[in-house]
Amino acid sequence: MKMSNYFKVLILCLLAVASTQAQLQLGFYTYSCPSAEQIIQNFVHEHIHNAPSLAATLIRMHFHDCFVRGCDASILLNSTNKQAEKDAPPNLTVRGFDFIDRIKSLVEAECPGVVSCADIIALTARDSIAATGGPYWKVPTGRRDGVISNLVEARNNIPAPFHNITTLQSRFANQGLDLRDLVLLSGAHTIGISLCTSFSNRLYNFTGKGDQDPSLDSEYATNLKTFKCKNINDNTTIVEMDPGSRKTFDLSYYNQVVKRRGLFESDSALLKNSVTKALVTQLLHGSLENFYAEFAKSIEKMGQIKVKTGSHGEIRKHCAFVNS
Ligand code: HEM
Ligand SMILES: *[C@@H]1O[C@H](CO)[C@@H](O)[C@H](O)[C@H]1NC(C)=O
Ligand SMILES: *[C@@H]1O[C@H](CO)[C@@H](O)[C@H](O)[C@H]1NC(C)=O
Ligand SMILES: *[C@@H]1O[C@H](CO)[C@@H](O)[C@H](O)[C@H]1NC(C)=O
Ligand SMILES: *[C@@H]1O[C@H](CO)[C@@H](O)[C@H](O)[C@H]1NC(C)=O
Ligand SMILES: *[C@@H]1O[C@H](CO)[C@@H](O)[C@H](O)[C@H]1NC(C)=O
Repeated sequence: MKMSNYFKVLILCLLAVASTQAQLQLGFYTYSCPSAEQIIQNFVHEHIHNAPSLAATLIRMHFHDCFVRGCDASILLNSTNKQAEKDAPPNLTVRGFDFIDRIKSLVEAECPGVVSCADIIALTARDSIAATGGPYWKVPTGRRDGVISNLVEARNNIPAPFHNITTLQSRFANQGLDLRDLVLLSGAHTIGISLCTSFSNRLYNFTGKGDQDPSLDSEYATNLKTFKCKNINDNTTIVEMDPGSRKTFDLSYYNQVVKRRGLFESDSALLKNSVTKALVTQLLHGSLENFYAEFAKSIEKMGQIKVKTGSHGEIRKHCAFVNS
């Protein structure tokens, strides 16, 4: 009797150790590289004011990283013989690679081989959004870097702008995220830009008959065709996703969606399911603080997708290459 209790306690202890090893923790680098988080935050604060649009690129990079093989910085790897995630179109994200590389070299100079590129992406995304006046969220650390990056996997996992609500739901579910997370994380489209080619089929050739997407406000569509995306092949013009408010992390994206002015089918899709539609309305009726708090919960969840910890993966020396 007593003996079996000892075993129970022992097993519980072992389980506790195993689970803490497999989890991220706040301040993982407190002893191994105490200044790491500060170095990142300082760099972001010094540079983001000159390039606030990078905040959008960096949060999107975090999203794309997490949706392919977990948050493991696979998005930063350069192609070798196979095409890497980096090469997946649309790739506006490219602008952020250099920013991350510069931060990595500062952190490496302080503590070589300690801080993962995966954690640097997560922290940089958070700090950049916060530095531009947006929400703040917790970033537990201890992620390790992956060694594989694959274009096909990116294509199969990252949601596309033309996806319907069913496909979006399943792509999010594959990552352990639900419809609530879909609505909240789509709220990041309150900042940033898109190339015309990401949605021009909605303006010019929705079903292959030279038609327009009926779920896009026709006045808005006309406006876009007249002043922005002047033909279906325009692959250089960029459009604000939340016009007039693309630098402010506010609720106006949801307002656009409700007015049927969401730029992508994936934005419009939020109106085509009763759960997501109700949530959009609820967010619009709530405060900005409420949106920030709910957004934080979802992005904290996103930041934990399939993370590699403990002895899995590696700490890359250079974010674009696996260690040799
Ligand atoms: C729900 C599925 C999603 C789809 C289909 C989607 C699709 C897209 C597309 C097509 C673009 C424009 C890219 C280009 O034209 O080069 C874009 C931009 C952007 N996305 Fe998403 N996205 C989704 C979810 C998210 C999430 C979860 C986040 C972050 C939490 C996010 C953040 C952004 C940001 C900030 C931009 C602007 C990038 C910039 O200005 O550099 N998106 N998205
Ligand atoms: C890695 O790829 C980036 C962009 O994808 C490019 O700018 C950079 O030059 C590449 N680095 C090397 C060393 O090939
Ligand atoms: C971005 O995507 C385009 C189109 O697929 C591709 O040709 C280009 O090489 C990519 N750019 C980078 C820097 O990876
Ligand atoms: C959503 O898209 C998928 C894949 O293209 C398709 O099989 C499915 O029928 C669509 N669902 C709805 C509700 O339109
Ligand atoms: C619209 O799409 C159809 C089918 O893909 C194609 O045959 C047609 O040429 C397209 N029209 C335009 C204007 O791009
Ligand atoms: C953009 O379109 C032009 C003309 O259609 C084409 O030559 C060019 O390769 C395209 N660029 C990209 C990045 O797709």
